[in-house]
Amino acid sequence: MISGIKGFADLFPPESSRFTAIETAAHRVFARYGYVELRTPIVEHTDLFCRSLGEETDVVQKEMYTFPDRKQRSLTLRPEATAGVMRAYIASGLHSKESVSKLFSFGPMFRYERPQKGRMRQFHQINCECVGAHTPQTDAEVISMLMAFLREVGIADASLQLNSLGCAECRPAYRALLAEYLRSLEAAAFCEDCRRRVETNPLRVLDCKIAGCREHAAGAPRIMEHGCQGCREHFDCVLELLKALHVPFTLNHRLVRGLDYYMRTTFEAVSGHIGAQSSIAGGGRYDGLIKSLGGPDLPGIGFACGMERLSLLMPAPATKRPDFFVVCVAKEAHNAAFLLAEAMRARGLAGDIAHAGGSFKSQMRQADKSGARFCCLLGPDELATGAVMLKDMDAGEQRSLPQADAITQIIAGIDI
Ligand code: HAM
Repeated sequence: MISGIKGFADLFPPESSRFTAIETAAHRVFARYGYVELRTPIVEHTDLFCRSLGEETDVVQKEMYTFPDRKQRSLTLRPEATAGVMRAYIASGLHSKESVSKLFSFGPMFRYERPQKGRMRQFHQINCECVGAHTPQTDAEVISMLMAFLREVGIADASLQLNSLGCAECRPAYRALLAEYLRSLEAAAFCEDCRRRVETNPLRVLDCKIAGCREHAAGAPRIMEHGCQGCREHFDCVLELLKALHVPFTLNHRLVRGLDYYMRTTFEAVSGHIGAQSSIAGGGRYDGLIKSLGGPDLPGIGFACGMERLSLLMPAPATKRPDFFVVCVAKEAHNAAFLLAEAMRARGLAGDIAHAGGSFKSQMRQADKSGARFCCLLGPDELATGAVMLKDMDAGEQRSLPQADAITQIIAGIDI
């Protein structure tokens, strides 16, 4: 037997049903806000991710599935969706057709991380991007939509954390201040990654996954206290709007996010019920990204939810009971059973026949196990007259009637 790849899962029911429920809820909620679906390839040129996510990020440094194609071009399985969506947005010239584009996508992403509960190497995201709008109202709308979506899938108690990462105007000075502060601390108390980050990406030290590093840097200057007036006003307005919408949040000055394209508003939805991998969604503003990829200088904001993590928190979706199960009392009724099942499906009913065959008793057991509301029995008498013995599986009563009438009764769900 060939085993599956570590960190790559097969999704059977009920998990696959939860994924379908998540996608259906996404379509429903995002449509209310004017989002349309975009599907992009799962493989892109490696350079796209290096330039978008940042060379110094964990994702680019350690987690990408990168390989040469047959012509030795470096390709990468997408570790996230934003970069590919922006590439598609620029290539399609969408910006010249509409001033604001609202795009959502879902599908598999790939990161070579250590698998554990809620953390896979192939995982799935629901991703939303709003391109072309720079206002704080847009930020509040995107965040409010995320929380509405989480409620729609039955997750009402996720907590929302917010931060502002400043902009091209104020972040360089803050970054220098932070690096200076971190250099003044004892280097040996930081992990190896953070010792490097102090020079290459000091903000990432603030949200290092190793608690010791975070504690060591506890007294670091806070970014929100060093933002320029534009960033402060923008963020204050976002907070004011969320309060007006009664969306509860907490400010988290350590919320830096793992990808380098973020600026100004960043956010995460967190759950206390799924163990260490508590972030169920994350996102933020990325105003310089599209320009850095060779597109127009347009702002953007978005988020992605991890579907595996949503699935861990969701109630099991209700399964629909089949309407019928056709049992052949006589072997020669097999074709008739098949044709009757197809006739019922053509009328919108759901159900099955005993494909694996078996004795009458075994077929009745299969009918019971299927949970069908009605059982249709076909024996020599029914074959001869074009009738069917319709059995109400709840009441246990049965009655012979013409096939067309049986179908009508099943549709009406009337007890016989
Ligand atoms: P991210 O925070 O890297 O952001 O991922 C978003 C969500 O994907 C996480 O909150 C988590 O639920 C899920 N996730 C990430 N890695 C894994 C994993 N290995 N296994 C299971 N779930 C995982 C982004 O990807 C950004 N592109 C979001 C964004 C969109 N920002 C702006 N627009």
